[in-house]
Parts: sequence; structure tokens; C-alpha cells
Amino acid sequence: MGKIIFFGGAFDPVHAGHLALLRAARKAVAPGLTLVVPTGNAAVHKQAAAFPADLRLKMLRAALAGFSKTRILDYEIKRCRPPRSAAPFRRSGTFGVPGGRDELRGRRCGQRPLPTYTWQTLRYIKARWPKSVIYLLIGSDNLPLLKTWKRPGLILRDPRVVLVAGHRAMSGEGVRSSFVTSRRQVTNEDLTPSPLPASRCIFVPGEFPPIASSDIREGLIDSKPARRRQARKMIPAAVRPFLEAPAALCALAELYCKKNLPLSRLRHTRAVVRLASELAEIHGLEAKKAGLAAWLHDLSRVKENFSGHRQALRHGPRSAEIARKIFGVEDRDVLEAVSCHTTGRPRQK
Ligand SMILES: [Fe+2]
Repeated sequence: MGKIIFFGGAFDPVHAGHLALLRAARKAVAPGLTLVVPTGNAAVHKQAAAFPADLRLKMLRAALAGFSKTRILDYEIKRCRPPRSAAPFRRSGTFGVPGGRDELRGRRCGQRPLPTYTWQTLRYIKARWPKSVIYLLIGSDNLPLLKTWKRPGLILRDPRVVLVAGHRAMSGEGVRSSFVTSRRQVTNEDLTPSPLPASRCIFVPGEFPPIASSDIREGLIDSKPARRRQARKMIPAAVRPFLEAPAALCALAELYCKKNLPLSRLRHTRAVVRLASELAEIHGLEAKKAGLAAWLHDLSRVKENFSGHRQALRHGPRSAEIARKIFGVEDRDVLEAVSCHTTGRPRQK
């Protein structure tokens, strides 16, 4: 197998910057195999991924369809899943409902699932491909954070691990001793308590789009159409259709609610998502659609209290309008459910 590139990340969602970095690194290293490893519950990330794990996997598969000798490893995602014999997750919040928290984003016994660490994944890859040298690929913006990872010395002192970092134009001696991220000058001292030998550090020159998945997620739910278009452009064309899937819309609606609604309203919405999905299952209706409508039903309730009944009744149609304009929801059942949730309508399901 020879060389293996190991590229980990939340890919929440995968974007043009990921692909540009991966292409440049593959050109520089010429690996026999590229392993792309979406995180399960990365300890370095303060919050769980916004998009469900299964959806992130699907988006990655679509984005990497044209990459040869490339494998998407769901090792970290599987590590986060509880064994079948384990006690069931506590059913709280929106856990276990379509569009709600999945096992990675929900809580297990009141806590997040066990965290995953890069050193563990490296150990797994080394055991599975024992004769290979592993090229750990990271973006330059993550370099200063490496020392905050669990057991950085174990990762970087391993003679079978070579660090590959994307960075902006720099060459010659400067590359060996220091490099520049988009934020500040970083030296090898920043990497780890013991500096990484220059011979085991490859810097991939190139112009990588200065974008982050968090910016894209924010952009996708922005009220300005231009910002939404810009965010979509950063997502590979093959991946964009997945943004219309109910699971993606639910994830984005949840982000929107977190950002714009009062906490009490957010809690209410989560409870409605759970209840709507359960009721849909009982009555043989589409639980995914019911969950989506529930996530969207109070989008316009940015204030907890209304000044009058009329204003209170209008928040349904207003929420439906936001669902249509910002989230691009066209499903008539969903829009009607949102629009009429304050008033009801004849023959309402
Ligand atoms: Fe409402």
C-alpha cells in the first residue's frame, strides 16, 4: 500500500476547501490510498456536528465520487454508536426522531457520546495497514490547534506519521522553520511540546479557499439571498441536492431556531418535533415530513410574547414564508401544516 493519506474532519458539510486541499495533497504525496474519515464526536469540537452522521457520509460519497483510490472510513462514526447490547439512549429532547438528534448529536445517559480522538484512529489505521506510512493531512488553520489535541506527542513523534499541511504560498527555508496561517505566524514550537522534525512535515503550497463549514452553515440560513447563494457555491455541485433532503432541512432549521428563537421557544420546538414525529408514526403518516414541519412551525417567533391575538395568529403564515424563502421548502403538506398550525383548516391531517 505504501503511502496513505489520512484526512479527518467533521465535513459538516464537505466544501470546496476540503476538496482543494485533498487534491493538492494527493498531488504532492502520490498516495496508494486516501482515507477520508468523518468525525463521530470529535473531542476538539465543542459542539456536535449539525448535520446527522449518515447525511455527512452521503455528502462525502457524492463529493469524492471522482477520486480514485479513495475510501471513506466510518470508523469514528461507528465508534460513537452504542453497542446493541447497551442500555438504550434516554429519550429526551428530540433524540431518536427524524430530523431530531441522532445518536451522535443526542445524549447518552445525560451526556454526549464518548469522544473520538485522532490518535485512536491513527492506531486503527496502523493496525489495519501495518506496512504503510501515514500522511496526516490537516488545514493550515488547524496547525496551531494541534497541540490541544489529545496526545499530540504520540501522533507527531511517531516515525510512521508524516504531517501534511496545506498553506498559502511559501517556499524555501521559510517552510522548514515556520509557516503562515491566515491568522498568525506559527512555528514548529506551536505544534507540540517537542518540535516536529522538518523532514516529517510536508507543506502543500497552493491557494485554498479561506472557508469554514461553520461559515457555510451560517450562510445557508442567512436572510440575505446573496449570502445563501454564496454559501451554496462553496458546496460541490454533486453535494447540493442533499441540502434539500428532509434531514438536512431539519438540521438547518434547528440551527436557525438556535440562532433566532428564545430558549423557551427552542425547547418548545424540540418537544413539538418529538411529538409530531411520534403522532405521524402512530397514524401512518410520513414522520420525516411531520418532523420537518415541526422544526419549521415557529420560525417567526423571535419574540416570546405577542401584543394581540391577531399578531399571534399570523405567526403561522409568516413561519411558512420563512420556510419557503430561506429553506426553499416547496412541499405543500409541510407548508400548509406550518401555515395553519395556529388556526387549523378543514380536513387537516
Ligand atoms: Fe406556534
